[in-house]
Amino acid sequence: MTTLVAGGTGRLGSMLVERLREAGGAVRVLTRAESSAGALRGAGVEAVVGRAEDPRAAAAAATGCSAVVASISGFGGTAASSVRTVDGAGNLELIRAASTAGVRRFVLVSSLTAAPRARLELDRSKDAAERALRSTDLDWTIVRAAPFLETQLAVMGESLPATGRTTIYGSAEAEVRVVPLEDVAAAVLQASSGACGGGLIELPGAATSLQAMSEALHRAAGTDGRSRRIPIGALRLMAVTARPFAPFLARAAGAAVVLHDSGSKPARGGAVARMPAPVLDAAARASLTPAALARP
Ligand SMILES: NC(=O)c1ccc[n+]([C@@H]2O[C@H](COP(=O)([O-])OP(=O)(O)OC[C@H]3O[C@@H](n4cnc5c(N)ncnc54)[C@H](OP(=O)(O)O)[C@@H]3O)[C@@H](O)[C@H]2O)c1
Repeated sequence: MTTLVAGGTGRLGSMLVERLREAGGAVRVLTRAESSAGALRGAGVEAVVGRAEDPRAAAAAATGCSAVVASISGFGGTAASSVRTVDGAGNLELIRAASTAGVRRFVLVSSLTAAPRARLELDRSKDAAERALRSTDLDWTIVRAAPFLETQLAVMGESLPATGRTTIYGSAEAEVRVVPLEDVAAAVLQASSGACGGGLIELPGAATSLQAMSEALHRAAGTDGRSRRIPIGALRLMAVTARPFAPFLARAAGAAVVLHDSGSKPARGGAVARMPAPVLDAAARASLTPAALARP
């Protein structure tokens, strides 16, 4: 009963691998990096080296597994490895490989804003993968998550060790909706074990402000609360004008705009909970570890 975690070296994926191993399950990871595969094998985890969009690598990774978790992302990649090739083609190939190999369950980690005509290419690629998965006979679950709290804190806190200042992308008072990694991991693990019925799971997260996130980072670091502000107008402009020469910068600016606007959208399914301060503080502490800061 092996579970493949494609993206098992990532922020969410490494948490999933850890939890699956703690529960005594057999785990396999698909990674592009020989060095990561070596470290995983040394820790007793099976590893397949390759790209998800490569049919041979996807088949080798899926064959013999009872469940596949697709937690890959090309958001931080270059043109050769982008959201289109990873979140789009890579997920499609994993779905195809799982179907061919007779895998029972497939869990796709998607985005809350996935839609055919979404603003971000990431969300359009996720939507294509969702539609492909729904059309299979696999026992599927789609986990649509809000932006991860820990990822946003790491982005805001990246400048903190060197400058003593966080970076606030947009207005400090802006309300945003973010979801703690633990909540995403719990939903994915339930789905991959068959403990829930499958289908669509939406994780809209809880509301907080960019200022509250910045303050949590300063509390965690013991610093004095200063921040550098990037105006929302500059981010909107960068999301469009940087596309031809700095695609990552454009993607990051676009994602910051979507996050910045997320709190002003009416919530599907009623009122939105507020992010509890202890959860914010714990995530800020976790985001400031050297290992967390080293992540792309
Ligand atoms: N971060 C967020 O705020 C957020 C919000 C909603 C949904 N999500 C989704 O949640 C999932 C996990 O996100 P994350 O932030 O934890 O990801 P992450 O830390 O950026 O990790 C990305 C993973 O994708 C793998 N990967 C990249 N290109 C690949 C390729 N061509 N073939 C195979 N693997 C490849 C990387 O593995 P190697 O480098 O080892 O190859 C890495 O393990 C993703 O599907 C993401 O889209 C994220």
